[in-house]
Amino acid sequence: MAQLDLWEKEYEERKDLPSSQTMVPSRALREFWESEEIKNLHMDSALDIGSGLGRNSIYMAAQNGFAHVVGVEIVDSAVDKARETIDELGLQNKITFVNQSVGDSLPFEDQSFDLIVDMMVMHLLDPNERAKYFAEIQRLLKPNGFFVFYTIAADSEAAKALFESSPGPEENSYIIPQSRMIEKAFTDDELIKAFPELNVIRLNHKTQLTPAFGDVYKREYISGVMKKPLA
Ligand SMILES: C[S@@+](CC[C@H](N)C(=O)[O-])C[C@H]1O[C@@H](n2cnc3c(N)ncnc32)[C@H](O)[C@@H]1O
Repeated sequence: MAQLDLWEKEYEERKDLPSSQTMVPSRALREFWESEEIKNLHMDSALDIGSGLGRNSIYMAAQNGFAHVVGVEIVDSAVDKARETIDELGLQNKITFVNQSVGDSLPFEDQSFDLIVDMMVMHLLDPNERAKYFAEIQRLLKPNGFFVFYTIAADSEAAKALFESSPGPEENSYIIPQSRMIEKAFTDDELIKAFPELNVIRLNHKTQLTPAFGDVYKREYISGVMKKPLA
């Protein structure tokens, strides 16, 4: 389920990926903060999907005034480390972590969050988990709430090379040779269809050099912002 053993290994031994090493918040989230559509909006509650070591939860609570941030993360040791960090920063009244898969029902009422953030997580889910996750994001967002995400683009040379050289179990998926993690890349169309209750504000494609496994890889990502309309 959910490649849990591989992620435990990443946090406990390998520490190969940028998010296992840095507390600098994700660029896509910082860019969202600088964008026009959220100027002068008051947002109170945020959900951080696959919160890892907590860098984005902390950014929202400490720098951007959120009163209530919840991170959901499957790896126990990452949650423990994130809790230690928020204790040190005195943010325990603003941030809580739930230790479970985002591919299962999430323990919150409908329309609980003004903002849901997914930085590099949805492409890690298997088809069943992903179907549940898509439904949960739409259920949990408040009307006028934003969903901000960063994920892997399918229509890029780098992804196509991986589909061929190291194919995964479903269409547009691959197995990363160094870690054996499976990733499912997305087209814009798939993402639009996955969230029928949300309006697309933008889906920007970004080519980025990603440091990982002691090397640097050219990858293409989709940086997305969607918004739930008023009823
Ligand atoms: C690429 S890391 C990104 C971490 C974090 N979003 C950040 O930007 O720092 C992906 C994270 O998703 C977590 N993860 C993977 N599958 C998950 C699942 N099914 N439910 C919750 N978290 C999951 C991993 O343990 C890891 O912390």
